Amino acid sequence: MRTIEWKDGMVTTIDQTKLPHKTVTLKITSCKEICKAIKTMQIRGAPLLGAAAGYGLALTAFHSKAKEKHHLIKELDASAQLLRQTRPTAVNLFWAIERIIRKAKKTAGDTRTVAAIVVKEAQKIALEDVHTSRKIGENGAVLISENDTVLTHCNAGRLATVDYGTALAVIRAAWTGGKKIHVIATETRPLLQGARLTAYELFSDGIPVTLVTDSMVGYVMAEGLVNKIIVGADRIVKDAVINKIGTYQISVLASKHKIPFYVAAPQSTFDMNRLAENVVIEQRDAREVTEFAGTQITPKGISVLNPAFDITPMKNVTAIISEKGIIYPNSDSKVSAN
Ligand code: MRU
Repeated sequence: MRTIEWKDGMVTTIDQTKLPHKTVTLKITSCKEICKAIKTMQIRGAPLLGAAAGYGLALTAFHSKAKEKHHLIKELDASAQLLRQTRPTAVNLFWAIERIIRKAKKTAGDTRTVAAIVVKEAQKIALEDVHTSRKIGENGAVLISENDTVLTHCNAGRLATVDYGTALAVIRAAWTGGKKIHVIATETRPLLQGARLTAYELFSDGIPVTLVTDSMVGYVMAEGLVNKIIVGADRIVKDAVINKIGTYQISVLASKHKIPFYVAAPQSTFDMNRLAENVVIEQRDAREVTEFAGTQITPKGISVLNPAFDITPMKNVTAIISEKGIIYPNSDSKVSAN
């Protein structure tokens, strides 16, 4: 099954907060429910947020009772506004919303025609993501060699996309291409996307994976236990890559140990008219840090900082792999297209 699917006005997706122990399928019929699922991290991962936002608008259009096109557009604008308020950092969500709203506004015809176009565009975004992820895997696999040990952070896998992944797409493509590799997955505090989701995906696929806590990254590099890093991205801007909290410190350690640091992301994650200083870094609830599996583990009332993402300067990035090819941001030639 794909991570998210559409059928006759219903969106089906996996509740990622329950993985790996339970596979709970969510059946969603309104944009409000999509927003709730995004806020609570049942749906997460940048490309998947784009697909989910598209389907959120598709649900509004499909179930609308509007008789006039301008009423339907008003409903879509209201849903778009709700979606924009869910999570601020991954640009894919905003990219998908703008793409669909633009399409709806320029479609001539009655409400049924516009609604059908909105659903079609949402389906197109999801399908494109599947092809894009495959292409990222294919493009990036050339950077992975036999016997590599590749460290990845957070979950940039099938679950973060509609299928196959971004960073894990490269790992999957290298593995299925016959390269014997090993993956080190960081647990990714506080929500454990690495321990719960990346470990689960790779383990189920039979790709050798070893889990470490986030604070062991320096140790594994200093001991020579890893020779490549590959992560995903939530937003790539002119001067930086914004990804899950902890990515920056991994990039600094990678520079120090002269280990290549690769970022895999679709073009829908690129926001090249912006600088990192203009990106909103999501700050999440302190309880994600003070509690562990619902139990308070800290003194009550402790002050907490809980940014969900951090900023890796472009100078720490060896290459960015997208569906279009490989970009070397710090080299004179910059792009190697496939
Ligand atoms: O907070 P999350 O789980 O949505 O964060 C996800 C990440 O940071 C991923 O690394 C990123 O979205 C790339 S996913 C292909």
